[in-house]
Amino acid sequence: AAAEKGGYPSFMEKEINDQPAAVGDTLLGRADAAGRLTLDEIRIDPELLKNVNKIIVLACGTSAYAGQVAKYAIEHWVRIPTEVELSHEFRYRDPIVDANTLIVSISQSGETMDTLMAVRYAKEQGAKTLAICNTNGSTIPRESDAVLYTHAGPEIAVASTKAFLAQITAAYLLGLYLAQLRGIKFQGEIRDILSDLGAIPAKIQSVLDNADQIKKLAREMAETKSVLFLGRHVGFPVAMEGALKLKELAYIHAEGFAAGELKHGPIALIEEGQPVFVVVPSPRGRHSLHSKVVSNIQEIRARGANTIVIAEQGDEAVKAYAEHVFYIPETPTLLAPLLATVPLQIFACELATAKGYDVDQPRNLAKSVTVE
Ligand code: G6P
Repeated sequence: AAAEKGGYPSFMEKEINDQPAAVGDTLLGRADAAGRLTLDEIRIDPELLKNVNKIIVLACGTSAYAGQVAKYAIEHWVRIPTEVELSHEFRYRDPIVDANTLIVSISQSGETMDTLMAVRYAKEQGAKTLAICNTNGSTIPRESDAVLYTHAGPEIAVASTKAFLAQITAAYLLGLYLAQLRGIKFQGEIRDILSDLGAIPAKIQSVLDNADQIKKLAREMAETKSVLFLGRHVGFPVAMEGALKLKELAYIHAEGFAAGELKHGPIALIEEGQPVFVVVPSPRGRHSLHSKVVSNIQEIRARGANTIVIAEQGDEAVKAYAEHVFYIPETPTLLAPLLATVPLQIFACELATAKGYDVDQPRNLAKSVTVE
């Protein structure tokens, strides 16, 4: 078993450290030398894909947060309205689905019953179904019209880490492929984004190489009772995933919020010493979101929050208001979840380990939930 863990004390630590390869392998062989995506495995007739006028992403748990990231990227690149829905809510609310709807299911295992039932329902309504999946030959891809496999390798720890980054990567590839097919993006632009994606594995590695600081903080915070996570734009699903990891691994009450929502409720939770992680967008982004999130940090800090900030390298503006800053390498805003998630995974894993918990097999959870 020690050998299977690659020298790490747990599968979770191994899998967190496998992430440069999980992303790199998922990108491998998906484009030609000219930067044209060649997703041959998507066997849906390209003409049908051109007629898609709505995308619905269906998933549960961590995979659903990958879906939320996908929505930002696909709508921005492809301009097709994209919804994300938890699989178990979908078929019980009489959703609007027809032959021009593309269902994108996201599942590490390919066996999650809630997602399988939602995919079956959508098929019955005439939708096209595409599975983003990490498990070869599993049920969901077998029952779907097409599959785009993530190549994260087997994920053993119950809580998902490397599959999440691989799912986000695959969703980006799908978005770029649809954009290419519909002629929306110039080929040069797609090639540039692919090259930014190609640089991600080395950047994840640098986050992993600098994990000592976040691990130390996690050990110091082992007795914490509640942690909040704020993020905006693609940082919002990252915040939700950071909170989920902490619940799953460390059994700590944790909530993720959209930073813009703070003033509409969550700010009432802030009291002296409340730890709050803030995922800060790049100051180089097109929008003014950076300064808005920096204002959020000031607001909560003025009310006593212990602010822990994930920011882009070179972002000096956050320093004045943060108790702790963890820097991630520069990358385009849409790709940042592939980096910003990693310190949050490490934090949850290290804190749970400090509490003496089994990070591979958290209580009450199953790796693949095959009942509805
Ligand atoms: C379970 C696991 C989660 C996972 C979710 C969805 O609840 O504990 O880690 O995110 O199922 O699993 P899937 O295999 O469909 O991605």
